[in-house]
Amino acid sequence: MRVLFVASEVFPLVKTGGLADVVAGLPPALTQLGMDVRVLVPGYPKVMDGLELTGKVVRLGNVLGGGAARLLYGRVGELQLLVLDAPQLYERGGGPYAGPDGRDWPDNHRRFGALCDVAAWLAGPEGGNRWRPDLIHGHDWQSGLVPAYVSLMPGRRPATVTTVHNLAYQGVFSKEVLPDLRLPWRMFDVRGLEFNGHLGFLKAGLWYSDKITTVSPTYARQIQTDTYGHGLEGLLQDRDADLHGILNGIDTEVWDPTHDPHLVARYDAAEPFAGKRANKLALQTRFGLQRDPDAPLFVVISRLVGMKGLDLLISAGTTLLRRGAQLAVLGSGESKIEQGFDAAAAHWPGRVAVRHGYDEPLAHLMQAGADAIVIPSRTEPCGLTQMYGLRYGTIPVVRRTGGLADSVIDASAHNLAHERATGVVFNDMDADALAWALERTIDLYHHKPLWHAMVRRAMQEDFSWRKSAARYVALYRSIARAE
Ligand code: ADP
Ligand code: GLC
Repeated sequence: MRVLFVASEVFPLVKTGGLADVVAGLPPALTQLGMDVRVLVPGYPKVMDGLELTGKVVRLGNVLGGGAARLLYGRVGELQLLVLDAPQLYERGGGPYAGPDGRDWPDNHRRFGALCDVAAWLAGPEGGNRWRPDLIHGHDWQSGLVPAYVSLMPGRRPATVTTVHNLAYQGVFSKEVLPDLRLPWRMFDVRGLEFNGHLGFLKAGLWYSDKITTVSPTYARQIQTDTYGHGLEGLLQDRDADLHGILNGIDTEVWDPTHDPHLVARYDAAEPFAGKRANKLALQTRFGLQRDPDAPLFVVISRLVGMKGLDLLISAGTTLLRRGAQLAVLGSGESKIEQGFDAAAAHWPGRVAVRHGYDEPLAHLMQAGADAIVIPSRTEPCGLTQMYGLRYGTIPVVRRTGGLADSVIDASAHNLAHERATGVVFNDMDADALAWALERTIDLYHHKPLWHAMVRRAMQEDFSWRKSAARYVALYRSIARAE
């Protein structure tokens, strides 16, 4: 079966979060199961620079008024890519969604609408006798119009799947942009593209797709409630039979402590402690922390935004310091959160340190050198950093929500006694609950037999894509119209 992924990010070319890792990590696992997968992405400068061309270049003309465009066939590593090269839309500085000033590009509807339009075109007769997908699997709002365009195709249509990586980002635009997107006004309806009087890309995806998935079973239930549904809970309840929560996997080659080139020492689950200690000292040096292998070292590797709950850590942080622990933070985002961590670092030199910006190699060293990783998210559709932590023997301290609840087993007395615990989980969204979780983590850290057993167990968990990829294949087979 030919499967076309449509996404706005792909690791290692362009990444702002976990979406890029999933879009790069899932296709190889699907390929192992016999699927023929390609990934359609916008031709941002970083994609154009990193792409290895493998095939012909197809002229597309003026897609949705976005200027002359071409479709390029290429690859990055093992991943087969299709790139929409439309300089007027994508050849810009800044990030994939916003300019250097941090403001969303005003023509984002056209930038991602064009991507969706081209995906549908590829599956139709005009796509020619080129590689023609049987199924289109879109990711997040940027791909939301794919099934809307597909619904307009005459004759044979591809099956469609939309995956929600984060329901908080919906791609909502003024209805006035509808003509830019060449969609008929009759589709601007509550039974279609309309969302609270506006045009909703994600809403459209959820309405028109054959199947909907999201990235953990718990989040699949949560998004059907008022608290987590962002106004789409009713639609998601109606589509319950077509909505599946499939836990993300991780790329176990990119994230592998036995081979990771970014570590100063490599290690495995059988003998992790000498290696982790060497990485810890290197990490303390990098961050200017006191070089103390016995101080419990907590890390944060995250976008510093409200949903990640890190304001709670800023409030609860004194608990760590009172107990002799250290904290290293990597990330950037909202200035209030950045400043909160900066103030803590200024107040506790050698004990708290912060690096702003995006640094993939440093993220790897932190996963290896830390004792624990803190993820107190308000919402977390899946979360990948807790799984990277587990694989690197870094104990996750997480709030019980979304994929965090589905991937970390709390060190309760019962789970410890049954040798199941892999992390520390807390329920309430407040600083006291997090402080209590941090206290428990430090207590465990000082109880070496329990801690060591937990680290080894965490490292042995299987978070590879194998099982989840099989679930996607079963889903594809249930709706695909042609093999
Ligand atoms: P989200 O997608 O909501 O940001 P995830 O946990 O799914 O959360 O994915 C985050 C990804 O981004 C992980 O691969 C993590 O290592 C990476 N990451 C986050 N912040 C940084 C940073 N400042 N530098 C390097 N990698 C980062
Ligand atoms: C989103 C979510 C995150 C998830 C990632 C990959 O960015 O916020 O929880 O892990 O997508 O699915």
